[in-house]
Amino acid sequence: MVIEHAPLEDELGDVLEKAARCAGLTEDALGVLAGVAGDKIRDAFDYRYDFSAEEIRRLATALGLNETGVSALATGHYPLPVIGGLPFCLYPLRTPHGIGVANAYVVADCCAQRGILFDTGADTEALRRVWPAGIKKLDAIFITHPETEHLAGLADVQKRFGPVPVFGPVGATIPDAVALQEGTRMTFGVFEVETLATPGHAESHNCYVVRVAGVPSSRTLLVSGDILFAGSIGGAYFCSERLKKHVKRLLELPPETAVAPGHGPLTTIANERTYNPFLF
Ligand SMILES: [Fe+2]
Repeated sequence: MVIEHAPLEDELGDVLEKAARCAGLTEDALGVLAGVAGDKIRDAFDYRYDFSAEEIRRLATALGLNETGVSALATGHYPLPVIGGLPFCLYPLRTPHGIGVANAYVVADCCAQRGILFDTGADTEALRRVWPAGIKKLDAIFITHPETEHLAGLADVQKRFGPVPVFGPVGATIPDAVALQEGTRMTFGVFEVETLATPGHAESHNCYVVRVAGVPSSRTLLVSGDILFAGSIGGAYFCSERLKKHVKRLLELPPETAVAPGHGPLTTIANERTYNPFLF
């Protein structure tokens, strides 16, 4: 079962701005490069769009972006796949964050009342409101990165569920958390969780691959934190080169892998390979 209602994390203006900043281009410099008025680009950064299809094409080319994905964003029709076939229940827990949402997730055997929690939401009360009624126990909590909107509910969850082991990225300051290195594999019941160390958006950032232990052919889940979103990538607040390197690496996962990002809707690796504007 998947509960799925979240807007894309980034609109066209966000994508253009992230790409321009990453390339070290001002609005006017991008305008010269793409043959588009600088004022139009400034307006786009403020979510006011007035581009022709040809201008979109030139902007995508100038920024090295995937034209198909940029055009899809420009028309408001970024494709999203139906997520099905996971061999477990995935509960997206959406908590308000600014004008969007921050996502936490519970993964559980559909017949069980216990699960694994990934991130803990932007707001304690909001997390309580969206908590799946059937989940009464937690085997572990994994944190992708130590930013408030992904950690706010941690103390409350620990209080409600008793002592639960907490895991996070190396270098993160998270109460009682065990730091997980690249490649660490842990098993909880039928689940195996593999750590991918993915700094770039933040200095301390992990993604997690979740699979059913002993069933290597079953569809897997990538909890991508703030590295890879449907239709975009995270801001490169720590290091843009490392962020790009890790996005590229994530896109090499099996195409059918479901992706559960820290913001925005669920997607798949195949979908992002085809449409994500930031293909490297
Ligand atoms: Fe975030």
